[in-house]
Amino acid sequence: MKLALIGYGNVGRALARLVAAKRREFPFTITGIHTLRHGTAIDPGGLPLDPPFGPRAPTIEAFFEAAGAEIAVELTTLNPSTGEPAMAHILAAFARGMHVATANKGPIAHAYAALREEAARAGVGFRFESAVMDGAPVFNLWRGCMPGVKVLGFAGSLNSTSKVAIETMERGGSFEDGLSAARQMGITEADGAYDIEGWDSAAKTAALANVLMDARTTPLAVGTRGIGRLTPERVREIARQGKTVRLISRARMTASGIALRVRAEVLDRGDILAAAPGTSNVLLFHTDLMGTFGTVSIEPGVEQTAYGVFSDLVNLSGGGAKPYNRQ
Ligand SMILES: NC(=O)c1ccc[n+]([C@@H]2O[C@H](COP(=O)([O-])OP(=O)(O)OC[C@H]3O[C@@H](n4cnc5c(N)ncnc54)[C@H](OP(=O)(O)O)[C@@H]3O)[C@@H](O)[C@H]2O)c1
Repeated sequence: MKLALIGYGNVGRALARLVAAKRREFPFTITGIHTLRHGTAIDPGGLPLDPPFGPRAPTIEAFFEAAGAEIAVELTTLNPSTGEPAMAHILAAFARGMHVATANKGPIAHAYAALREEAARAGVGFRFESAVMDGAPVFNLWRGCMPGVKVLGFAGSLNSTSKVAIETMERGGSFEDGLSAARQMGITEADGAYDIEGWDSAAKTAALANVLMDARTTPLAVGTRGIGRLTPERVREIARQGKTVRLISRARMTASGIALRVRAEVLDRGDILAAAPGTSNVLLFHTDLMGTFGTVSIEPGVEQTAYGVFSDLVNLSGGGAKPYNRQ
């Protein structure tokens, strides 16, 4: 199947490497790449990992027309306060009858219900496994393994950058040292303030609530406080008490609706939400039939984000189910 990539940064390039490595088993071909500043690259026969970029296609429609692909892969920069331009890219793809895979949580956080309905109207698939917790199954787990289960709430330590910043301060570094360490790992949003002020977590919280609980909310409705006011002194004082700080996303059903919040919480070191180190993420689902259970991803990197998108591509192309009798 042919792929049109919108965005070719950390995730786009990691995905292109993975597609190239798995081409024998999964014959995907990247026929177009569209970026903001680098321009547009097109080759109906398949682009190399370092493609020659020409002038930028004037519109997203012109790019899709030139790429001639069946699947649009939306990997542009997150804008947590609007979800754009990703939302417009996704709608343009649906309008052409293209399936869409994205790692961009903005559209899921802002307009999941409308996008799901639009995809259904167009008769195409819409997948976004990497939008929360990189490639670790969250949405696929819910979709495939939890029939009849109602999600009543969730709690998650979902922002890697804030955790790297806190752990750096615990080891004696400054806030800025932590932020630049996270940036070097390629895990920080283009605007690092989104991670620190809690916007990334608010977008993940809204995205999870929209998909798992049909909340029809946006990040603006998530009560959010980031870690911007944490000082190294305060972090080390908490550490001396055997505790740590994590930016925690929480959702719960209340009599007046679904309550959503993001807070820097002081947790015991043994708390399951605090236990996983570095870039690791933890998400606990609170449910009616399965009680509380969760998913953990230990030290994921951009390759795992790329894998989440890859799993979407495989599912969209109809090759998702494992042949159990041929392991
Ligand atoms: N990095 C991670 O570990 C991770 C994990 C989970 C989810 N995500 C999500 O994945 C997405 C991509 O992340 P990333 O780290 O790859 O970002 P990135 O390195 O900043 O790359 C963003 C890419 O989007 C392009 N772009 C921006 N605006 C565009 C527009 N209007 N039209 C076309 N292209 C546009 C940029 O073009 P130029 O190259 O020309 O600037 C760049 O190629 C984000 O939404 C992020 O939230 C990332």
